[in-house]
Amino acid sequence: MTSGRSFYITTPIYYPSDVPHIGHGYTTVAVDALARWHRQAGDDTWMLTGTDEHGQKMLRAAAANGATPQEWVDRLVAESWFPLLKTLDVANDDFIRTTQPRHEERVRQFVQAIHDRGYIYAGEFEALYCVGCEEFKTESEIVDGTGAFEGLKVCAIHSKPLELLQEKNYFFKLSEFTEPLLKLYAENPDFIRPESARNEVVSFVKQGLKDLSISRSTFDWGIKVPWDETHVIYVWVDALLNYATAVGFGSDPEEFARRWPAYHVVGKDILRFHAVIWPAMLMAAGVEVPRGVFAHGWLLVGGEKMSKSKLTGIAPTEITDVFGSDAYRFYFLSAIAFGQDGSFSWEDLSARYQAELANGFGNLASRTTAMIARYREGIVPPAGEETDGDRVIRETVANAVERADAAIERFRLDEAIAAIWTIVDALNLYITENEPWVLAKDEGLRSRLDTVLYTAAEGLRALAVLLSPIMPIATEKLWVGLGAAESLGRLQDQALRDAGRWGQLRPGTSVNALAPLFPRVEQPGDGQPGAAKA
Ligand code: ME8
Ligand code: MG
Repeated sequence: MTSGRSFYITTPIYYPSDVPHIGHGYTTVAVDALARWHRQAGDDTWMLTGTDEHGQKMLRAAAANGATPQEWVDRLVAESWFPLLKTLDVANDDFIRTTQPRHEERVRQFVQAIHDRGYIYAGEFEALYCVGCEEFKTESEIVDGTGAFEGLKVCAIHSKPLELLQEKNYFFKLSEFTEPLLKLYAENPDFIRPESARNEVVSFVKQGLKDLSISRSTFDWGIKVPWDETHVIYVWVDALLNYATAVGFGSDPEEFARRWPAYHVVGKDILRFHAVIWPAMLMAAGVEVPRGVFAHGWLLVGGEKMSKSKLTGIAPTEITDVFGSDAYRFYFLSAIAFGQDGSFSWEDLSARYQAELANGFGNLASRTTAMIARYREGIVPPAGEETDGDRVIRETVANAVERADAAIERFRLDEAIAAIWTIVDALNLYITENEPWVLAKDEGLRSRLDTVLYTAAEGLRALAVLLSPIMPIATEKLWVGLGAAESLGRLQDQALRDAGRWGQLRPGTSVNALAPLFPRVEQPGDGQPGAAKA
């Protein structure tokens, strides 16, 4: 059911120097939900994620754990990064590791090509480097250390000391791309989103770009520079290229033409790499630039960016073990305006789980199927004459589909979910107002009860389709509960943009008993469900 419109979307490739935390999970479920939506809407969709395995950070993490870098990344990827995708029910199409031959060979080829085109030269260099960021730092990104690092210059992001590096390096003529990049941003206002991210990048580039050191010679955990094997390619140049090598750049022109260009979703910490360096690299090689870069905000814990290096990292399983993967996906995607920072708290998660998922959506699903079982022997009745109240539901559904799809086009998952939730709220109100339990007592109102039950069930049919990219597990249970699987086919095959067409659920369909979609979770005394396992 592909329309030919290509939709290729990527997550950053994460550093497997350590285990994943909920920040990595956040980006990954956002990209998965966007990809699922487009896939189910019939777009020719491809979702890529993966791991960024070279560089000094990796080398040091391995050494600190008494392993070779290859052993270390193999272990972390197998034990932590692959399982993360299962934990969060992510349906990625590919997973790239930068130590794979399919990547390494094409990176060498790409770097050789921009060298041959005259964009690389050798030079001397001295600057402060942050291994946490794998990046040379300019004055504005350097702050004075505190505590143990008093008197030292530290990275503004990692709060760890910087290292003075003095090397002969190869440089990429990034400075030549100042004007072409400004033109790109001006001609494609959506190239960088949201607006705040775009403004930040434009004012940064307007100051003029400096050439970029793209090789290192003091360690060898990386891809060798093709014309000088005493150097390895700078880890960020290596890493950014994953987006191209994974879809056949340099090896499968047909596949590359089909997929490229991509949309990149990243955290705002790595926006400049994606919105400045990456398109400049592609321009230098004569390859089309990405379709767009969307930078989301940071998950904050105690007011600070959550991170492993600052010991504020929370493992995704701490949440999914208690609430399940659907709740994880729903919570982060609905509670945070996509593009802005959001504070994580167990109290907020727990409250929304109870109010929106258990009492709002879950209860609507279970009472509707239960009433069809009780009043109509489990058979979805045909609707009778339509009243104003019924029409409101039909229109709410049609409206929600349009608004949600438009929000997804803008990458605003939170707004899409809010639009879909108008259906949940409208149906709950509809049932309260129509009181089917009262209608059931009067045989003369038989046709009216049929209409109310049909309207509620058909509304749930639309909700299952619309929410399946966000909550694949619960919606699949609902789909089976509605008996829709037999008559309408698989949930993931339901055309998303057609979800608002009223009357798809057939009268005569047998509903099945529905276990609670969002079971009650234990509420421990200290208000921290994560602690309940101990
Ligand atoms: O930067 N809030 O990898 P990384 C929200 N390998 N998102 C967060 C987050 C937080 N507190 N912490 C991390 C790298 N993330 C490079 C990328 S791409 C060619 C190379 C997410 O392991 C967010 O997506 O440090 C952020 O951009 C990414 O993890 C950084 O992951
Ligand atoms: Mg990082």
